[in-house]
Amino acid sequence: MSGRDRTDGATRASSRPPTDHAGLEVPAPTVAFSAEQLGEVRRLQGLYPDRRAALLPVLHLAQETFGYISLEVERYVAGLFDLTPAHVHEVVTFYTMFFRAPKGRHVVAVCHNLSCHLAGAPAIVAHLQGRLGIHVGETTADGRVTLQSVECLCACEHAPMMQVDDRYEFGLTPEKVDRILEGLR
Ligand code: FES
Repeated sequence: MSGRDRTDGATRASSRPPTDHAGLEVPAPTVAFSAEQLGEVRRLQGLYPDRRAALLPVLHLAQETFGYISLEVERYVAGLFDLTPAHVHEVVTFYTMFFRAPKGRHVVAVCHNLSCHLAGAPAIVAHLQGRLGIHVGETTADGRVTLQSVECLCACEHAPMMQVDDRYEFGLTPEKVDRILEGLR
């Protein structure tokens, strides 16, 4: 497929009403990218032999733009790729990096995979839940922190560890967790 074909395909897909898993037409989404962002979507789609490979970066763009990936956003993105909303929903729900509800100002993601689990991750999660007053998957009432429990973050030698926004925190203890939380405003 040529670059021109892919570009034409993106334009055609964006004007086609999305359908559900049964192929039935669903209401047009009310969210929309700007013209500049649509240009970026087409550029990303043109980078790959199969433009569906651009779905993840476009979902990141959607999350940056709309705050989180609502069902409405899923339908909109599906239309950009000529995919069913169910297909996009499966992708969004597979990855913990996509939020399906408004997230807090900070995202604390504790690794719960094997090395971290054996090194004490369950106790770290329990400590965080107690200090924040929320369960995993929830956001504090003041919108300060969203707490997640995630798969391996590829820093197993520093277990137990967690990601706080865009940085890693290693060798966690309850005391270290408390210091980290104090720094989150
Ligand atoms: S198991 Fe936690 S970073 Fe790999």
